[in-house]
Amino acid sequence: MPVSPLLGRSLLRVTDLTAVELNTLLSLAIRLKGVPLRDQFTLLRGRTLIMLFEQPSLRTRVSFEVGIAQLGGQAIVASGDEFMLGSRESPEDAARSLARYADAIMIRTYNHQLLERLAGASTVPVINGLSQQAHPCQALADLLTIRERFGTLEGLRLAYIGDGRNNVAQSLAEAAALAGVSITFGCPATHRPSDAFLAKLVQLGGAHDITARAFTSPIRAAKEVDVVYTDIWTSMGDEQYIERNAAALLSYQVNEKLMRAAAKHAIFMHCLPAHRGEEVTDGVIDGIQSVVFDQAENRMHAQKALLLALLTDLRGFEL
Ligand code: CP
Ligand code: NVA
Repeated sequence: MPVSPLLGRSLLRVTDLTAVELNTLLSLAIRLKGVPLRDQFTLLRGRTLIMLFEQPSLRTRVSFEVGIAQLGGQAIVASGDEFMLGSRESPEDAARSLARYADAIMIRTYNHQLLERLAGASTVPVINGLSQQAHPCQALADLLTIRERFGTLEGLRLAYIGDGRNNVAQSLAEAAALAGVSITFGCPATHRPSDAFLAKLVQLGGAHDITARAFTSPIRAAKEVDVVYTDIWTSMGDEQYIERNAAALLSYQVNEKLMRAAAKHAIFMHCLPAHRGEEVTDGVIDGIQSVVFDQAENRMHAQKALLLALLTDLRGFEL
């Protein structure tokens, strides 16, 4: 394997990757899952990941921390008023300091611009661990889960039901498009992705010739799809809109009736945390079509592949 195409780069959005690079990361994650842990602990020996959290996290924090430990490296976490980028100091100064200690920086912050400023000044890779605009690590795990389930991505159909403008929806749709998956959104007009975004998805699909459409009927959006995906109705940092969103999205719950519109073999996906009884019923999230905990597990495998690709030349991995 030649030098990793991602060596030294940052991942702020899915579209920082080409279709080939996305595929390489997914293949690497699958390869790594088959490597015994005893053979993994030298891969990132002596490497340090700094993780900054301005917002709460369970999966992102723990999956990165356990993942890098399995590769022989270590993670250091700072949260809340331990760093306060943008108020205590500029993101540029923080990046220049952190790059002197660590091999990579992961940050979860509402403010995507702050993330871009941090990455712009950093001499080590910066990973977006969720911003208001994007959640690329989640999208990697999601595509990995779909590929494992179906053995392929190209030609599949995915429906995203709910807030089609949120971070998870946008990153998922971009990754799906790059991989040749057609997308339908089921959203009210207030939460519908823009026509420009839908056109961009088709463009990302390139030669795969995918479709990207939005419907106000959730049942129409889910018709005969292979994957039904939803997320909470109000994302972190937007809590002032909880009531407005709940009213607008009430009829966009993923329930048993909606799942019956999808293909018989369809899977149900959710990035978690879930608000049971709101965007999804217990019956669906706990049902046999649900793969939500495979997704949660795959956060770790996808991020291990990402760290290896950003920090090493991937020698020894024939992909
Ligand atoms: N899906 C996800 O990012 O979970 P956390 O918010 O718990 O990290
Ligand atoms: N859209 C959600 C995802 C949480 C992992 C949020 O931003 O809160």
